[in-house]
This record gives sequence, C-alpha cells and structure tokens, in this order.
Amino acid sequence: MGNNSRNISDYTKFIVDLRRHMWMAGIEMELRRLIWQIAVTGKYISAKIHESNRKLAGLRNIHGDEQLALDKSADVILQNQLQYSGFVKAYCSEELDRIVPYEAPSSKYHVTADPLDGSSLVDTNLAIGTIIGIHRDSPLAAEGRKTMVGAMYITYGPLITMVYSAGKGTHEFVLNREGEYVLSEENITLDEKGSIYSLGGLRKDWLPEHLKYVEVLEGEGYKLRYSGGFVPDINQILIKRGGVFTYPGTRKDPKGKLRLIFELQPMAFLAEQAGGMATDGKQDILAIRPESLNHRSPIYIGSRYEVEKAREFLT
Ligand code: AHG
Ligand code: MN
Ligand code: MN
Repeated sequence: MGNNSRNISDYTKFIVDLRRHMWMAGIEMELRRLIWQIAVTGKYISAKIHESNRKLAGLRNIHGDEQLALDKSADVILQNQLQYSGFVKAYCSEELDRIVPYEAPSSKYHVTADPLDGSSLVDTNLAIGTIIGIHRDSPLAAEGRKTMVGAMYITYGPLITMVYSAGKGTHEFVLNREGEYVLSEENITLDEKGSIYSLGGLRKDWLPEHLKYVEVLEGEGYKLRYSGGFVPDINQILIKRGGVFTYPGTRKDPKGKLRLIFELQPMAFLAEQAGGMATDGKQDILAIRPESLNHRSPIYIGSRYEVEKAREFLT
C-alpha cells in the first residue's frame, strides 16, 4: 500500500491525541472528560463563526459592551454542551449576569467562559478565541490560586489550536484534518526574558509609571506585537516562548479593561504553568480575590523578567 493510504488508526499510532495525553498525565477522569468536551465544543463554535453572517447586528450585553450576536451564540453552544454533561456543577460567562447552577450533584467543576473573545475582530478575519477557567469551587469563593484546577483557550485562526493545563504543564494541540486534537507543543516553557511586547490601552491614557516601564523595554529593542485579540496576543507569547502582554490601568479606567474571572485568571494559570508570571502590576492575578463577576484588573503577563520589571515601576 502506498504511504498515502495510511488510515487514521495507523496515523494515530504516531501521534498523541488530547485524550491520550491527559490519560498519560494522570489527570482525573471527570476533569479529562470536561476538557475534552470543551475542546470538542470549540469545533461547533468555529463552525458557527464560519457559517454566520459576519456582519451580525450587535446586541447589548450586560457589561455594556457592544457585542456581536456571535458572542451570544457561542455562549449558547457552550451551555448546551455543558449543561447535560454531568460533570459541570455551575457555569458563568461574560455574556451572563449570574452564575448558572446545573442540576449535576455528582459533578464538582465550576466553569467560567469568555465564549468568544475578540468578536470585534470577526469582520477583519483576524484570529479570535474562547477562554475557559475550571474551578473546584465557585470562582467568587476565593482567589484563583485556591479555586482553579485548570484552564484552556481555543484559537480560531488559520488553524484551530487548543492550549490547556490541568496543573501539569501547559500544552498545545492542533485540530487536524481528521478532526482530532493532536499534540503540537508539549510542556511549553517561557524563557526568562522575551523579545516581544503586546501593549493594550491608548498611549495617551497610560499612567506615567506605565509609560516609563514601556520606554525601558523599548530601549531594550522589544518588538510590538498587538492584534487586539487577547487570545492570539497571549498565544503568540506562549508559542514564541517569551515576552509580555499588558493591558494597564489608565487615567480613564484605573482597573483596566480585561475581566479577572473570564479572561485574566485562565491566562494567568496557563502562564504560570509555563514558568511565567501574571500580575496586576503589583500582586499575582491568581492571588486577587474576585469582588464580582465583572471585576476588571490591569494585567502584566508573560516572561518573569518583564513582569518583575513592571513591579519595579508600579509598586
Ligand atoms: P471581548 O471581545 O471578549 O470583549 O474581549 C476583547 C478584549 C480582548 O480581546 C483584547 O485584549 C481587548 O479587548 C482589546 O481592547 P482594545 O480594543 O482596547 O485594544
Ligand atoms: Mn474577552
Ligand atoms: Mn467575549
């Protein structure tokens, strides 16, 4: 038989798919099934992005942001997949104004979601994503370091990729032609210092101490990489093994723009599992006790050198 006649079973013999990876990592079964279920749901959300009219009229969401109906349908797809899965105790997302309990007494996981991050980029065809946090208790019960057991994001770009951690390293999978998530980068480890910076917020609104910090990195020759999509901007730092993303507190918004529970905690979990750091400029993101579902915080996330350097200017 010619080598292009290899069938999927031959093919999978040489690759590690997501379920096998989690099993070999010794992750407990319910958590494996939950991560798998969410990864599969990413395929449905991707299909929705491709099928839907990209110029959907906006709806107002509870956080006052203009949102494309696509955000809402991504949230509905996630809820439909998780509500009857049997292993989700409660679900909350940036598209809802409360935590939704699911009648699954045996299950122990609380799921947080930014169902579609960067939806304002949909009409530009830039990469967007889904951000997920997995907690053993309510995300409002305590700081992330005490409640979180896992995190993941799915990037809808030229490829669909999924990065996850269940506390045993940060790993990337790519959705292949056969519809399997196959391991592409294992135990992603950030270098002590990188060479890219991703700077959110308007320069004219930055506080002096943040501007001084940016100028120091500028002087060290950092290259600017900012798409306006949190997921691809963070993904670039993980895959390039270093650098820093920051969306600071500004004169207009001292708490910054990004949401602690739905966006920052999952990325902080993944960055720490990759040997990096994530702070609000002063304290670790995972040490901050969420005050509400809509708690916003400044963020400095990536390699240790850059995040520690920020602390020098911001404390
Ligand atoms: P969302 O689409 O979930 O509201 O998130 C958008 C966020 C995040 O993707 C990105 O880092 C940030 O908005 C970009 O903000 P600016 O447009 O102010 O750069
Ligand atoms: Mn978002
Ligand atoms: Mn969103």
